[in-house]
Amino acid sequence: MNTRSPLLFAASPIGVFDSGIGGLSVLQALRHELPHEHFVYLADSAHAPYGERGDAFVQARTLAIAQYLRAQHGIKALVIACNTATAAAVDLLRAELPDLLLIGVEPAIKPAALSSQTQHVGVMATRGTVESRRFKKLVQEHGQQVQFHVQACDGLARAIEHSTLQEGDVVTTEIAALCRDYTTALGRFGLKTGEMDTLVLGCTHYVFVKDELRVLLGLDVQLIDTGAPVARQTRRLLERAQLLNHPQPAAQIAPRSVQALGASEHLQLITTGSLAALQAAAARWLDLPASCCTVAAMPAVVPSAI
Ligand code: DGL
Repeated sequence: MNTRSPLLFAASPIGVFDSGIGGLSVLQALRHELPHEHFVYLADSAHAPYGERGDAFVQARTLAIAQYLRAQHGIKALVIACNTATAAAVDLLRAELPDLLLIGVEPAIKPAALSSQTQHVGVMATRGTVESRRFKKLVQEHGQQVQFHVQACDGLARAIEHSTLQEGDVVTTEIAALCRDYTTALGRFGLKTGEMDTLVLGCTHYVFVKDELRVLLGLDVQLIDTGAPVARQTRRLLERAQLLNHPQPAAQIAPRSVQALGASEHLQLITTGSLAALQAAAARWLDLPASCCTVAAMPAVVPSAI
């Protein structure tokens, strides 16, 4: 018998996960769109990056993480804040955990096709994403009017992941060089005929190098990521399932200022990798205190046959 009241279930956290810290860019949009929700974010940094690993590995990790978040944190929904994991594992997850509300992310191919004026669009994503069946289908569906120029960016997510702890010239130089090499390989950006006026950031990590990309491409080129649309879709699905958490009436809230309700009461960030790296990323990109972060008490499921 299910003894959970609907109200209690609506108050359960939303799970969000990525191969590492990239999905924090999606978490940021989720917190903005859904300020009354509780979130548990899992960074699988011990196994990042996923993009150059192969489907079987990513599927095994994704399933293990979804099961862990459900069993240990009682999540009411899971946002796969990783394009690579969505491409490789969302179908499997739907089949294995049919009662879990799932939200995946995929590169913003459709919005880019609709908004590009020059009808040339660049796409940066991981190798796993660009070689996936889902991605190829997406590009085919929206590629009638628009030419997509696609680049698999090996090493970029790893460099961003490393940059959280190793602040300094070496990492910055590596990220800048990778961004320069990959945007150069894509071709000419700009507003003239035949140039790409739009760049799709098809990996959640790349949102954190927008500044570097802007320096290379200029301000006219639009950079599109999926944080905000994914957050809106999460809201729609929660509403439809009547699982949206509503704010408590003021009288029921203990006499503490809203400010005093610490981020950690509504937000837990957990990692399979370095705690210091997650804390550094949380502080740098989301302005969150170190107290939000812990190490995942999760068995180290590394698929042995892979
Ligand atoms: N952040 C992930 C994505 O959106 C994956 C990066 C990686 O682990 O390779 O694809």
